[in-house]
Amino acid sequence: MSEPPRVLLEHGAWPAYRLLDCGQGRKLEQFGDLRLIRGEPKAWWRPRRDPREWAAAHAEFGEDGRWMRMRADTPPRWTLAYEGLTLEARLSSGSKHVGVFPEQEPHWRWVRERLAAVKGAGTPPSVLNLFGYTGVATLTAAKAGAAVTHVDASKPALAWARENQRLSGMGDAPVRWLLDDAFKFVAREIRRGRRYDLILLDPPSFGRGPRGEVWKVENQIADLMDLLRKLVDPDSGAVVLTLYNLEASPLMLHNLTRDAFPKGALEVGELVLGGDEGAPRLPLSLFARWAGAAD
Ligand SMILES: C[S@@+](CC[C@H](N)C(=O)[O-])C[C@H]1O[C@@H](n2cnc3c(N)ncnc32)[C@H](O)[C@@H]1O
Repeated sequence: MSEPPRVLLEHGAWPAYRLLDCGQGRKLEQFGDLRLIRGEPKAWWRPRRDPREWAAAHAEFGEDGRWMRMRADTPPRWTLAYEGLTLEARLSSGSKHVGVFPEQEPHWRWVRERLAAVKGAGTPPSVLNLFGYTGVATLTAAKAGAAVTHVDASKPALAWARENQRLSGMGDAPVRWLLDDAFKFVAREIRRGRRYDLILLDPPSFGRGPRGEVWKVENQIADLMDLLRKLVDPDSGAVVLTLYNLEASPLMLHNLTRDAFPKGALEVGELVLGGDEGAPRLPLSLFARWAGAAD
């Protein structure tokens, strides 16, 4: 079987986000009005911009796991607009994550386009977002007319996702916000005979379910992909997997996905942040996008 070409998906024109520079294990980003510095293990090259520009950032996430506010006018929370959504970004102690993964934007765009293609076909398409975090993909799918089931093991992440729903004025959107272990939830859905048109999953390398269930991607991802095969229609369904593991490769994702989905269209590759004004492009994660044989 010939290996598929590797696809580079670059984040599109999202005015609220800019990758200003990266290098020496760090990245300088702009989220709305705020300029932040965060660690970036893949940025092995040298940064391009004047060091004074880095020094002018609002805050930096330090190796001690804390945000150092470099400027007094740095708010702990602020909002970002994305395609009609209002998303809350935060500087939370102990985490370098601010509430959105900008490199996921090509997935959000693809979800919108895919759902637009099936819009008006009777019942709303059903979407399952596993490891859904703050719900950008969930709200994007709901805004595109889907009924969405969002599963995450973290109560604070679910509360943040609901806040994004409120801020976006989407209180009536057909979203099920579920606090659950992704693996257990999928097994239960299969027993219930449920089916989804589109499944998104972006598992961490390591995580815990709400009752302490251990998630280790290298031990469980193959079994989870196998289970997902029973939740999507082999002809009209689609699955989008994203992995951030440094040791993973596009060919690994290809083999993993083909194991569970031998037929149908398959794209694998990297999610890349496009740099501003000559800043190097930054590869951040890998993805596999499978769509049923009817596609
Ligand atoms: C990398 S984040 C996902 C980011 C998300 N795709 C996005 O674009 O916003 C991983 C999420 O997995 C959740 N998680 C970790 N272990 C889990 C488990 N066993 N079951 C369900 N969710 C889990 C974490 O709470 C976290 O919100």
